[in-house]
Amino acid sequence: MPEDAIDDRVVDVLRGRSGETVLPSELSERLGVPSESVRDGICTLRDQGYEVEEHPVRGMRLLGVPDRMLEREILHGLDTKLLGRRVRCYGRVRSTNDVAMRLAEGGAPEGTLVAAECQTGGRGRSGRSWDSPEGMGIWASLVLRPGSRAADAHRLGMCAGVGIVQTLARIGVHAALKWPNDIRIGEKKVGGILTETQANGDRIRVLVLGFGVNVNQTKECFREDLRDMATSLRLATGRIQERVPLLQRILRETEAWLLPILRDEGAFGRLLEAWQEACSTLGKWVKIEVGEEVIVGRAVEIGSDGALVVDRKGKCKRIRTGHVLWQGNEYPGK
Ligand code: BTN
Repeated sequence: MPEDAIDDRVVDVLRGRSGETVLPSELSERLGVPSESVRDGICTLRDQGYEVEEHPVRGMRLLGVPDRMLEREILHGLDTKLLGRRVRCYGRVRSTNDVAMRLAEGGAPEGTLVAAECQTGGRGRSGRSWDSPEGMGIWASLVLRPGSRAADAHRLGMCAGVGIVQTLARIGVHAALKWPNDIRIGEKKVGGILTETQANGDRIRVLVLGFGVNVNQTKECFREDLRDMATSLRLATGRIQERVPLLQRILRETEAWLLPILRDEGAFGRLLEAWQEACSTLGKWVKIEVGEEVIVGRAVEIGSDGALVVDRKGKCKRIRTGHVLWQGNEYPGK
């Protein structure tokens, strides 16, 4: 097994000291490397945003770790069994979904997480773009190999939807799911999920589960045309939020739903119930764009295939793919 890089080893020792100092000579002795290597490791850590204080007599101590998409930070304290056991982090990519798909085609194990600070060509559903400014959000994708029927792919996306809503609840943010899988705070979108698959017939060879959460944008960070429609956790809570612990929590909460689904333990009923409970579309009047058509009716339930069931004057219509243009409590007219 290759030995960890020196910066990883230095940070492990400093972390283990819980804020107490350690002498450079002790560090170099413990790691069995010359003091120059320790120094190089410290420089690398500082470049990555770690705050390492150095006192001429007492030695060094770790004062702060960066809230950046670094493999080391995402893995630190992560207690999942599958999701994020392998992590690949990037500064800037076109889309983490593209990278994850490429890695998956090259044999990356199930659960591999790809995260980036910034996406230059982030994608949303239905060919839309997804703004992913540097350091402002969680832009990440997971490699999954469910092997189940391609028609069931939406179930894995639903796991992430519920997982993200639960994660946000832990920081006091009440978010809801808008069909098919938007994450919203009130009327504004804070996150979304994009699943993409490579299938052989009706079996999924690879499923990439991409999710984006707006974390630290201020209003001005959003494009002018999005300002009334988008929000961030910072705007919702009035505080800058740390992204890495949120990402770890999303992985944990999502995994709790996903593992039983992947193992086909008949867990879909519970997931569907949780999803419907978190869904703000159900019970509302909706206007849905389905291809060229706009359908008006009352959203009554989500089918086991993920379809939205809409009641139109007593007749139910199942909508597999569409875009909810509007949802509200009053009949919107035609
Ligand atoms: C949507 O609501 O339309 C889906 C948005 C999904 C955005 C995420 S960000 C990480 C991953 N990479 C992408 O290009 N898109 C997804």
